[in-house]
Amino acid sequence: MSIFSRIAGTGSYLPALRLTNQDLVERLAKSGLETSDEWITTRSGISARHFAAENELTSDLAVKAAQAALTSAGITSADLDLIILATSTPDHLGGFPSTACVVQDKLGAHTACAAFDVQAVCAGFTYALATADAFIRSGSYKKVLVIGAETFSRILDFQDRGTCVLFGDGAGAVVLEATNEPGILSTALHADGSQRDILCVPGRSGNGVVHGSPFMTMDGQAVFKLAVKVLEQVAHEVLAKANLTPERIDWLVPHQANIRIMEGTAKKMGMSMDKVIVTVHEHGNTSAASIPLALDVGVRSGQIQRGHHLLLEGVGGGFAWGAVALRY
Ligand code: UT7
Repeated sequence: MSIFSRIAGTGSYLPALRLTNQDLVERLAKSGLETSDEWITTRSGISARHFAAENELTSDLAVKAAQAALTSAGITSADLDLIILATSTPDHLGGFPSTACVVQDKLGAHTACAAFDVQAVCAGFTYALATADAFIRSGSYKKVLVIGAETFSRILDFQDRGTCVLFGDGAGAVVLEATNEPGILSTALHADGSQRDILCVPGRSGNGVVHGSPFMTMDGQAVFKLAVKVLEQVAHEVLAKANLTPERIDWLVPHQANIRIMEGTAKKMGMSMDKVIVTVHEHGNTSAASIPLALDVGVRSGQIQRGHHLLLEGVGGGFAWGAVALRY
């Protein structure tokens, strides 16, 4: 009998500090940076975002999302075989030790539960989910915790209005478990390293010094154009692999970077925006956390129901992109 993987439970967490666009406008004005609620809303669809407290690490956000996902799946950390955590803002420099290992300890999982990080920036959750699915289908593991968690506020340059108004912090998680019937139907992952400079943290550390900028930089228009193009391609690819058509998708759960990118993708797929889970207005762009955060919001609001077909897709730095088609 074939082994498949299915989502057994979801969870998410947002730090307590919520900043509206107006809060940010006032904060940035103090350092002479000019922006407006009107610009942020019309260009990106973002109205608010959450920022982690000074003593709150990516692993702290991840643990809270993970605990909610474990409860929703009806299991405990003792049942886990593997933790995969997608992040570009790990607790430690160089991601060493991995934030997944920190989470394994904070959750009290046993040492037979392996743990590692995945780095594919905003596509990180699709990469992590595809990896977890492959481990389960190979028969290696039965219960895998897949997390996307970020504290992007730590790598934002608050002197760069083209980026600092767009990102937020948060975490989302799913428990993926082995099953006899297909949950995850197909996955597709891509990368184009030749485009690595359009969205990156240019700095390098060496001999105890950071050489170059430690902040994220983005050529917004170049990223926008490439994102719209590759998201449509990968959506069609993953649906074809799953023998699905866009009409059979109940919910598109896209990476939440910009409402205009989501509208563009939905339009190209012939899907109504009524079938798209949108959280960007409240969360901003939370990179690897945005898809599992949106998924959990969709599940807890009752929009996403058991048996629904979902299309998850993400794109970002690397350049890396991916999609997952699944039956929830
Ligand atoms: O998560 C990974 C994937 N990331 C994305 O998908 C992001 C993709 N890119 C985008 O979402 C959009 O390109 C942005 C939201 C980043 C920017 O929107 P845009 O329509 O491409 O604006 P732009 O960069 O072309 O800037 C237009 C104008 C510029 O002024 P001029 O040169 O036309 O006079 C900017 O200086 O808007 C100005 N501007 C701002 N004005 C007020 C840039 N940032 C701001 C700001 N407030 N915060």
